[in-house]
Amino acid sequence: MSNRITINADVAAGTINRNIYGHFSEHLGRCIYEGIWVGEDSPIPNTNGIRNDIVEALKNIKIPVLRWPGGCFADEYHWKDGIGPREGRKRMINTHWGGVLENNHFGTHEFLMLCEMLECEPYISGNVGSGTVQEMSEWVEYMTFDGVSPMADWRKENGREKPWNVKYFGVGNENWGCGGNMRPEYYADLYRRYQTFVRNYGDNKIYKIACGPNVDDYRWMEVVMREAHNHMDAISLHYYTIPNEWSNKGPATGFSEDEWYATMKKALWMEELITRHSTIMDRYDPNKRVGMIVDEWGTWFDVEPGTNPGFLYQQNTIRDALVAGLTLNIFHDHCDRVVMANIAQVINVLQSVILTEGEKMVLTPTYHVFDMYKVHQDATALTTSIDGNEYKRGGQAIPQVSVSASKDAEGRIHVSLCNLDNENAADVDIDLRGLAAAALKVTGTELTASVKDAHNTFEQPEAVAPTAYKAFTVEGSAIRAKLSPMSVTVLEVISE
Ligand code: AHR
Repeated sequence: MSNRITINADVAAGTINRNIYGHFSEHLGRCIYEGIWVGEDSPIPNTNGIRNDIVEALKNIKIPVLRWPGGCFADEYHWKDGIGPREGRKRMINTHWGGVLENNHFGTHEFLMLCEMLECEPYISGNVGSGTVQEMSEWVEYMTFDGVSPMADWRKENGREKPWNVKYFGVGNENWGCGGNMRPEYYADLYRRYQTFVRNYGDNKIYKIACGPNVDDYRWMEVVMREAHNHMDAISLHYYTIPNEWSNKGPATGFSEDEWYATMKKALWMEELITRHSTIMDRYDPNKRVGMIVDEWGTWFDVEPGTNPGFLYQQNTIRDALVAGLTLNIFHDHCDRVVMANIAQVINVLQSVILTEGEKMVLTPTYHVFDMYKVHQDATALTTSIDGNEYKRGGQAIPQVSVSASKDAEGRIHVSLCNLDNENAADVDIDLRGLAAAALKVTGTELTASVKDAHNTFEQPEAVAPTAYKAFTVEGSAIRAKLSPMSVTVLEVISE
């Protein structure tokens, strides 16, 4: 039976904030060091110490926003250790991630230079867990104050005359866990206090982000919203897709059929999490002034054998591509509340879009999804409905197909479709109703593979790559398509 999809070209569901396509970079494993920062003297082609290849690749997917310096690292990070001449910066142990030396060569100036090179917004995570109110306040002054002040003068001494524009600022990270093991009542009070001293200087208006819940901790959301919603612009949510359990997450490649299925099912849980947290937010913020920011999401598998367990290095397969595609579709559906999301993490950590090894770089299947989906950035989400087939296994059932559609500023409609089933193709009948013109010009791109753990390696970097998609027919406003098993497809529809 065919999956029947209706797309209402004349019913808008809101704007898909481009920041939903955001990324996250932490001082963890080989994300910052090696992945981004190689230093000016490196034989790897770089600009002021930052790899040229990753800048080009990330600009290609229109990276809108980048979160830094953590993660758990953020609540141990003291920003003053990472400024001034690099040779003199404090050397310390990254106690949270792998116990390796952190030489602080990548600090505030380097991160904000990277964002300028990427033409993306910086999102800074401040330290509540082990930092002081003064330290947080002075960081904001250092970065954004234009004029004479102790911190602005120090910034100028360190080579940056003009302040940076820093909009997004997180007041703590996972303060229910690695950020201080706090209760929501205690964090809510601390949040109110710390954010008071996160000042707006000149034209720089800070968008304050409170630490939100872990997964389905609805009580955390309830308490922090109740006590502090008037003092925040947004609140975060963290949810990782883990096929098995924390102590045995399952491998990134060579996984079983059950692990494929569990991954899809658990990734789909994002829908319920957003809906239920959003319902709580509605009680305190019915007009949806406060955004939800899913600033850590993605797959989390066992590390690659032989790698440092604290480095969280994992391969990335067509399964990850499906998780990315269906999750981004869910974010689109909730674009009235979800204003930003940051996949974890951008390079060499968890569900990365890029992997590096020395001077080599490989783009993962997840990268290709971000590339194919970039057409949705800032577009108008269209309402869709699906009367679809179930993808069943072991007495469980999930939808076979995930769909989302948007209309861009030029009137082009983009439809993103994921077939979660790795064995069976999916027939889809799309009714594009609400269009004035009759003739549709349709083109498509598909990402698929013939084995369920297909991935790109440094030897075979193009094993999983997008190709032109032609398995469809168009009749009036109807598109009939056959989606390959385990595929992500984006159609572009122009009405003439
Ligand atoms: O992304 C890895 C870690 O996951 C982050 O540091 C932390 O915030 C989360 O628990």
